[in-house]
Amino acid sequence: LGKKIHYFEEVSSTNSVAKEIAASEEEGALVIAEIQKGGRGRMGREWVSPHGGIWMSVILKPGIPLRHASRLTLVAGLAVANVIRDMGLDARIKWPNDVRINGKKVCGILTEAKAEVDRVDYVVLGIGINVNMDLKDIPESFRAGSTTLKVELGKHIRRVSFLQDFLFELEQQYISFKTQPFSHILNDWLALSDTIGREVKVTTPSRIIEGRAVGVTPDGALIIRKADNTKEEIIAGRCIYARP
Ligand code: BTN
Repeated sequence: LGKKIHYFEEVSSTNSVAKEIAASEEEGALVIAEIQKGGRGRMGREWVSPHGGIWMSVILKPGIPLRHASRLTLVAGLAVANVIRDMGLDARIKWPNDVRINGKKVCGILTEAKAEVDRVDYVVLGIGINVNMDLKDIPESFRAGSTTLKVELGKHIRRVSFLQDFLFELEQQYISFKTQPFSHILNDWLALSDTIGREVKVTTPSRIIEGRAVGVTPDGALIIRKADNTKEEIIAGRCIYARP
């Protein structure tokens, strides 16, 4: 991964650029930018992307059924968490895609796929990591729930070596994804997730589900046990912990 890199000083969104070129690009090509003016988060939210972060999108062509594309979000989250843990920080994953340190978000992932019938043509893994920003660089409305690697480590991080380590780790996980049963990745993901066992409130475009998070399906859907003891699987939504 990352043999070919499209580097920009400024883009609207690296995911948008990656989607435009994905059809003619080889697997593993990377789009990366210093700043994004129209960075996109999940569920139509804005993703603030100032100088100092890593804003990138990886083009993958795994040839999987579309329903498995969300598994790649877990693959990417696991890779980010592992690399941050190697720096000595206790990174955890909040379903489905936030990597957090001490309960504060340091990374978000936006997976977008294009499929023909049921096979994916390509998957764009958009990864945003707060690296060298100070808290003042993060808009006030997000500041309380966010952190950066520089804030957590108390020192400036070399983004290029971080990126090298991350791409190496992502490639390892991606190879495992393609060659091993998905349960391997899922078990590693579960070990780093702080969502399972918690009381949660998940908001989807159509409704709100409350209960205890009791597991994740092989496709990455969150399993919630509700007060009436019935279970529900949620493939996409915004998850809030009832107790921090
Ligand atoms: C989220 O937590 O809501 C997902 C945030 C994803 C942000 C990254 S930054 C690189 C890529 N380009 C975008 O516009 N979004 C993703």
